[in-house]
Amino acid sequence: MALQNINPTKTKAWKKLTNHFNENKNISIKDLYKNSNRQTDFSIQFNDLLVDFSKNKITQETIDLLVELANEVDLKDAIKKQFTGEIINVTEGREVLHTALRSTSEEPILVNGKNIKPQIQTTLRKIRSFSNKVISGKWKGYTGKSITDVVNIGIGGSDLGPDMVVESLQYYKNQLNTHFVSNIDGDHVSEIIKNLNPETTLFVIVSKTFTTQETITNAETIKNWFLKSATIFDIPKHFVAVSTNLEAVDSFGIDKANVFPMWNWVGGRFSLWSAVGLSISLSVGFDNYKALLEGAEEMDNHFRNTDFNQNIPVILALLSIWYNNFYGAETEAVLPYSQYLKKLPDYLQQAIMESNGKGVDRNGDKIDYQTGTIVWGSTGTNMQHAFMQLVHQGTKLIPADFIGYKESLYGLTDHHKKLMANYYAQMDALAFGKTKEEVHLELKFSGDEAKINQLLPFKVFEGNRPSNAILFDKLTPKSLGKLIALYEHKIYTQGILWNIYSYDQFGVELGKELAKKLLNKQ
Ligand code: F6P
Repeated sequence: MALQNINPTKTKAWKKLTNHFNENKNISIKDLYKNSNRQTDFSIQFNDLLVDFSKNKITQETIDLLVELANEVDLKDAIKKQFTGEIINVTEGREVLHTALRSTSEEPILVNGKNIKPQIQTTLRKIRSFSNKVISGKWKGYTGKSITDVVNIGIGGSDLGPDMVVESLQYYKNQLNTHFVSNIDGDHVSEIIKNLNPETTLFVIVSKTFTTQETITNAETIKNWFLKSATIFDIPKHFVAVSTNLEAVDSFGIDKANVFPMWNWVGGRFSLWSAVGLSISLSVGFDNYKALLEGAEEMDNHFRNTDFNQNIPVILALLSIWYNNFYGAETEAVLPYSQYLKKLPDYLQQAIMESNGKGVDRNGDKIDYQTGTIVWGSTGTNMQHAFMQLVHQGTKLIPADFIGYKESLYGLTDHHKKLMANYYAQMDALAFGKTKEEVHLELKFSGDEAKINQLLPFKVFEGNRPSNAILFDKLTPKSLGKLIALYEHKIYTQGILWNIYSYDQFGVELGKELAKKLLNKQ
């Protein structure tokens, strides 16, 4: 049975939400905070993760109505269909089973009548054995030397996920240097290969289709560079591939034994849990890679089994809809207070915007309400000295997720205390602002009384700007897996509520076609 096809704006819950919004749109977070239980009432603790969503323009009634909306469009049914392998990617005729890649349960998942769990396990074993050989130095290059450098060649989902995870887990990294080549811009690949030694470099070509112009062009350039010092018989020692297109991989010259499978039931932007994550396993070791998957599975179980009013991805999705569709917010910021997560916003841009940037509903009709949010961000505290001015005092409403960790990895407690003081201070400043009266007093006490009239309006912070605190105990492979899966489920929840198909991406095709036509004309 296909997904339900319900226009959210025609539901009873939407009408109630519209009335509720009209009555409460000027609600003040500061006033709401007069209730001393607010933080407890609007927080969810899930093992090592605490999500505090108390600094939002919501009351319990808002949450109740949003949950009513989720129930009315039968989100529960949609979640079940995704996990059990129904063809919910209808426009491409595919199941959506990235969750199966991290499932350790015995529950079989059938695709075309065949349980896919055994092939997932076989691939994980292959990833483990290959990673162990390369990391331990047993895998030798064509002159008998061990591998020192790994280059992931891919783009989009075949690049952003592994790149972001390798960067985020830098603390857990082994001796291998990991590089990522993605752009068709030849200067990108040139900059990377200029410092590499072909004798000690392993290239992982990642392309689900093995037809992507950027990836194939970069792979060919690298192969030609490699063949300047080696022969075609040396290719198997230095090139491996992750793909569904075995024929194309074969004609590139890659040994069948060095091909890691990908499956049509895993979308590119959700594929880091498959062999697309090979460079992650090479970089941090298989056990850490497995822990990443375990963290994601923990979030999967939470998403699948928890009531919506306590369900972290669902709550974050509903809040996003609240601002996007009722307050008219167009963008959302993701602000990790960890330098390790500097690539998370880029990764989420593909995950969120390629999934939910749709203007046609599941009926094929043009949509007259807002769908996919624009997501952007950077790390704290750097961004406080960059774009936060606009978030604090600009004319736009920008809900923000603040991601933080209670502990730092190297234990520089002085730094960490300061980092986290900033983390909390930003959210307080956004929510509570600074009133005219406060500015007045401040200027008076600083001896600037003469300037009060001139400066007062510029120094006022209206506040009442929403944020979520997403706080983990510590950045570990497991907690990172949980964080990524949290956003994946938020994406799906929003797609279901907006009545769109989140798992296709036809919007990227036209530009590709036109570029090919222009190229042929040259
Ligand atoms: O252009 C978008 C896209 O199709 C993404 O969805 C995908 O992750 C990326 O290209 C790469 O595709 P492939 O893995 O087939 O090279």
